[in-house]
Formats: sequence, structure tokens, C-alpha cells
Amino acid sequence: MSEKFIPIKAISATSNGIRHWPAPDNIVTSAGESRDRLQRPLRDLRISVTDRCNFRCTYCMPKEVFTKDYPYLSHSELLSFEEITRSASIFVQHGVRKIRLTGGEPLLRKNIEDLIAMLAALRTPEGEALDLTLTTNGSLLRKKAQALRAAGLTRLTVSLDALDDKIFKQMNDVDFPVSDVLDGIHAANQAGFEKIKINMVVKKGVNEQEVVSMARHFKSTPHILRFIEFMDVGDSNAWQAQEVLRSDEIIRLLEAAGMPLIQLPAQQLGETAQRYQHRDCSAELGFISSVSHAFCRDCNRARLSTQGMLYTCLFASEGHDLREHLRAPSYGADSDAIISTIIGQIWQTRDDRYSELRDQARQTEHRKKIEMSYIGG
Ligand code: GTP
Ligand code: 5AD
Ligand code: SF4
Ligand code: SF4
Repeated sequence: MSEKFIPIKAISATSNGIRHWPAPDNIVTSAGESRDRLQRPLRDLRISVTDRCNFRCTYCMPKEVFTKDYPYLSHSELLSFEEITRSASIFVQHGVRKIRLTGGEPLLRKNIEDLIAMLAALRTPEGEALDLTLTTNGSLLRKKAQALRAAGLTRLTVSLDALDDKIFKQMNDVDFPVSDVLDGIHAANQAGFEKIKINMVVKKGVNEQEVVSMARHFKSTPHILRFIEFMDVGDSNAWQAQEVLRSDEIIRLLEAAGMPLIQLPAQQLGETAQRYQHRDCSAELGFISSVSHAFCRDCNRARLSTQGMLYTCLFASEGHDLREHLRAPSYGADSDAIISTIIGQIWQTRDDRYSELRDQARQTEHRKKIEMSYIGG
């Protein structure tokens, strides 16, 4: 049924970090499972729905760079909900089983629950619904949790870097109080999101003293706290290796505070987090160690930007323009098959593994990387 090999006939051209693919001569009508050059399948599609955010986290959208005059995308440049859903359904034919909505802050996108309902209606070739999730900073969660759940969102991840209000405000840099995010998490729980993932980016000397209190707090909840090593995504967050608190250092901090952990087996190939649980209770924690233990080997993630550019790595410099094909008026009934063929070509030529090559790449390459707020986490 599925074609094993898609001929890479098209010669693509790059301008301004965007690669343009001509419509292929050989259209592959049934996609099947695609593998990249390192034999990795495509399973996880992360869709950014806005490049805007109401926070200015210093590690992601530092105030000095993301000013009022920053050239954010205009509404007409964004993919519409119909275009996003159409793209997603083509990606599902290529093997995608999980979709994560990201931003910027995805809850800032107007009527986001309508998009969720459209994506929740998609089915895999086996007739199953997708794992549909979203990453939010929690600021609008109290207001939106119920609607998100009702629309069919299956899981939720909330970013939260501190419990101490002063440190939290220092990290979000817009004076946003932590109590509102905690209320949002509570509202989401009430709305039916059971095991919410709480993502904490840890920066040495900034919020490392919050590691222990966050672990204590979430130990008595059903939620899964995940510590994320501060990464060198984009070019604006002034990343320095000395500011990374490695996962093994965090584990030692927790042990010293009387919270020894045991490691759990991985649940799925290509997971970002190594899973742990407290020795004396079943509360789960995760460690996302892209700096100290790269996890590129099984990376099955593709990223679709707000503008419809496809990125095959979080640290990419170049995106592949799908929007021009989504909007091409001349394709007629072949449109989805053309886009599907191009996605297959892009995935088959992928050989990204930035985190594995980080040290070398940082020394030898001086290319510009895309910003996290443009592509999502
Ligand atoms: P679950 O399916 O809920 O486990 O989600 P996930 O861990 O796949 O996605 P999430 O957005 O929660 O990822 C957490 C963090 O891990 C992100 O905010 C990034 O900081 C980092 N991350 C996610 N994907 C990648 C990746 O492909 N490469 C690297 N280096 N870091 C990633
Ligand atoms: N390092 C690690 N994670 C980051 N995120 C954003 N910037 C960084 C960075 N420099 C992640 C955080 C946030 C999500 C939206 O993106 O987990 O929760
Ligand atoms: Fe906004 Fe999330 Fe980036 Fe913070 S990490 S600035 S909340 S997109
Ligand atoms: Fe995947 Fe790139 Fe992250 Fe490696 S650095 S895990 S290839 S997104």
C-alpha cells in the first residue's frame, strides 16, 4: 500500500533561511511511514499557533530583544485553522500520532478551542484519535481550561519555573504572579486534566534554589514535574554553559534534601524526558537533559511554525516552506498529495542531531538559529 521510496527529484532553493520546494513531478498518492537518514520515523508534530507571548522569560524572549517594535507576524501570515488542520492530517498519513500546540503562548491565539476541536476530529489510518496536547505558561488557564477540555484536548503541559513569587516574576519579567498560574493548574485539574506536566527550566544562580521546593510541592499532587536544562535555542537568550544546572546535579540536590529517586523505564521511543519517581511514593518526575545527555538518536519530532514553515530540528536555521504549497491555487485535487510528497522528501533528507554535536557546532558554525518563541518548545 505505501510507497517505500520517494524519488528526490526536486532541487530546492534557499533564501533568508527558508527553503522552497518545487511541486514534484512524481506525486506519491499514499504516504506510508517515512524514515529520515538516521532511520528515525516521524511521530510527533509540534505546531506553533502564535509567535507572541505575554511573558518575557529571560531564557526565551528577553525583554531587550522582544520589544514593542519587534517584527511579529501579521495575521495574514499565520496559517489559518483550516490550513493547520489540513497540514496535520497529511502529517498523520506520514506516521504522526501526537500533536502538541505551542507558541509563543498558544492560548493567546483567538478561538484556539476551535482549532483543538478540528484536530481532535482527525483519525489515524487505524481509526484512532491522536494524542493532542498543548504547552502553556498558565496565565490564561483559569479562564480557558474548561473550554480546552470540552474541545477535546487530551493532555496539558504548564511551564512553571518557581513557586517563590519574587523569583517567578524575575523569570517571567512581566511581574506576573505565581498564584495565578497555580490557580490555572488547579482549574485545569478540575476540568479533567489529570496528570499535568509541569515544565521547569532551571538556570544556575537564578532559580536553582526552587528545585527542592518545586519537588516537594508537586510530590503531593498527581502532576509530573520535569526539570529542563537551560538550552542554547535561538540566538537571543545569551546562553552560557556555566548557567546550566545539569540533571545529575539536580538529582543530587534532591537526594541531599531527603528526596531520593528511582529511575523508571522509558514509555516510548524518542521521549525527551528520563522518567523517575520518588523512592517513598509514586509521584513521577522527569529530567530533560538535552545539554548533558542529548536525545537526538530517536528524535521523531517535526515542527510547523506559525507561518507554515516546517523545521526538522529545534536548533534549525532553515525552514521548509509548506505554506506556499498550501496556498497554491493551481494544484486542484492534487494539492494534498503534492504537499504529502514534499513532506516525505523533507523528512527523508533529514539528518539533524544538533544536541549531540552541540560543542562542535558552537565552535565551528556561526549560523543564525530560529527563536524558540517562533517555533515553540
Ligand atoms: P510529552 O509527550 O508530554 O512527554 O512532551 P514532550 O516532552 O515531548 O514535549 P514538551 O514540549 O513538554 O518538551 C519539554 C521541553 O523539552 C521543551 O520545552 C524543550 O525545552 C525540550 N524539548 C522538547 N523537544 C525537544 C527536542 O526535540 N530537542 C531538544 N533538544 N529539546 C526538546
Ligand atoms: N531552554 C530550555 N527550555 C526552554 N524553553 C524555552 N526556552 C528554553 C530554553 N532556552 C521551553 C520551556 C518552556 C517552553 C515553552 O519552552 O520549557 O516551558
Ligand atoms: Fe512565553 Fe513560554 Fe517563552 Fe516564557 S518560555 S516567553 S512563557 S513562550
Ligand atoms: Fe531532535 Fe534536534 Fe532536539 Fe536533537 S536537537 S532531539 S535532532 S530537535
